[in-house]
Amino acid sequence: MHLKIALLAGDGIGPEVIDQAVKVSDAIAQKYNHSIEWTPALTGAAAIDAVGDPYPEETHQVCLDADAILFGAIGHPRFDNDPSAKVRPEQGLLKMRQKLGLFANVRPTFTFPSLLDKSPLKRERIEGTDLVFLRELTGGIYFGERGRKNNGDTAFDTCTYHREEIQRLAKKGFELAMTRSKKLCCVDKANVLESSRLWRETVQAMEKDYPEVEVAYEFVDAVAMRLVQWPNSYDVLITENLFGDILTDEASVISGSMGLMPSASVGTDNSLYEPIHGSFPQATGLGIANPLATILSAAMLFEMSFGLTEEGAEIRRVVDQSLADGMVTEDLKEGGAKGNSTTEVGDYLVKQILA
Ligand code: IPM
Ligand code: MG
Repeated sequence: MHLKIALLAGDGIGPEVIDQAVKVSDAIAQKYNHSIEWTPALTGAAAIDAVGDPYPEETHQVCLDADAILFGAIGHPRFDNDPSAKVRPEQGLLKMRQKLGLFANVRPTFTFPSLLDKSPLKRERIEGTDLVFLRELTGGIYFGERGRKNNGDTAFDTCTYHREEIQRLAKKGFELAMTRSKKLCCVDKANVLESSRLWRETVQAMEKDYPEVEVAYEFVDAVAMRLVQWPNSYDVLITENLFGDILTDEASVISGSMGLMPSASVGTDNSLYEPIHGSFPQATGLGIANPLATILSAAMLFEMSFGLTEEGAEIRRVVDQSLADGMVTEDLKEGGAKGNSTTEVGDYLVKQILA
């Protein structure tokens, strides 16, 4: 198969982890007789510096022309400390999600048997955790009306949802639940928010189309609590944009390192795959960034955009192997032991694939 992939490395550690994912994907292509055509394009602070726009039109074209997009991370501290900055790297990410129509953000949280004791939560609480958040990504408070009133002394952001936006996300949730344990949790704040009541009403009306799926409705504050108490009681969770942003960061620590969890953002025509961690600016260029989340995102890309399940499984197999062999970056080393470098981990995986 010929795979056309847009490659958006972005900022900070983005380029380093992306390099490893490219190496690993190329090794997979070699082993399974595929060819990959990578087309790099600029995003984030790097794109602001080059052309003054964090998601330039040329980059958008590259994404539209590709079958799938592999993305590193964006963000730079020089913008974080300047609330008056007019152009920010994160705007690029939001613009990209909106222009590409990436409405469903798939964020799994799972544990690795060899890392159960790395988690801040007790082993017995997290053992067997394997859940997936479907976060709505192009609506809600992120994209609603916002502004200032009263000479700038009052600020507002609005959370707006249309029934169809909820339906298309929930449909993905029901479908995913059907392929898993047939349990779906709709996370909202319907005791307070009107937009949440529309979510609940919409999902309730869809239940009849999926009679086998058992649906639970839970308030976001309760989910935040149960997620760290009994994460293994959840399977598929659907939620709106901001709740999903917060809960998926919370869930990501369960596995033991931020550097492990992949994600996919699915749209009507195209999908983008990225690690859930950010650009980790302090680590830029030090060779300490964990590339596994990006490599596992490449596994999702093979599976979800191309139906290449064997290839995805092979990536997961070698990732498990590297964890079991202790070929890991410093975030996963025991007792302050020196970590392997980002590149060493990538090279090791390539060697395992081609062995
Ligand atoms: C994420 C990030 C982004 C978000 C930021 C960088 C805009 O936190 O992908 O979760 O809030 O969606
Ligand atoms: Mg976030």
